[in-house]
Amino acid sequence: MNIQIRPEHKNDISTISMINDMAFGQEDEGNLIVKLRKKKNFIKELSLVACFGNEIIGHILFSKITIKNDIEEFESLALAPMSVIPEFQGLGIGSELIKKGLQKATKLGYDSVIVLGHENYYPKFKFTPASLFQITCPFEVTDLNFMALELKKGSLDMVSGCVIYPK
Ligand SMILES: CC(C)(COP(=O)(O)OP(=O)(O)OC[C@H]1O[C@@H](n2cnc3c(N)ncnc32)[C@H](O)[C@@H]1OP(=O)(O)O)[C@@H](O)C(=O)NCCC(=O)NCCS
Repeated sequence: MNIQIRPEHKNDISTISMINDMAFGQEDEGNLIVKLRKKKNFIKELSLVACFGNEIIGHILFSKITIKNDIEEFESLALAPMSVIPEFQGLGIGSELIKKGLQKATKLGYDSVIVLGHENYYPKFKFTPASLFQITCPFEVTDLNFMALELKKGSLDMVSGCVIYPK
């Protein structure tokens, strides 16, 4: 299957919302992306679409977040949301979006990624519980579902604090 992964274009915006609506069966995630796009946390190069021919069938977004303790703040990325339209799920497209996104984020100089997601899915990409890095979530979550990944080895060694998501 020939899938191309590329950053979003201006004219992909409504399709990206539609893909999210279809994947999640609700509009919350598509609306979240629309809101994030207006914020300084948004990184155009890390809003990636998966294309099959001319058709967009998947999307992933990484946006800037802060990890903050009483003394220091650290920049990181949140992976959320990601979506593949139902007919194309389970074919490895989500995995390709994650791998490509992590590569791009590394190239752009980011150090780490945080994800709130399924404990069986993200460990495949070397995410581990964020608690192992002294990183906490601002709301109650199951430890195994709140995960972190170092893009550079050791980059989270000196990081501790709570993740601050955009409002
Ligand atoms: C999660 C999602 C993006 C994965 O994309 P995909 O192209 O189906 O993923 P892949 O083909 O690379 O991987 C499929 C694996 O993911 C698992 N999977 C699919 N949806 C999942 C979900 N919501 N949570 C956890 N695991 C899921 C499958 O069981 C499969 O596992 P296996 O490899 O052990 O067999 C896609 O299924 C989707 O859009 N789901 C609905 C939206 C969603 O839940 N997004 C994630 C939260 S932001």
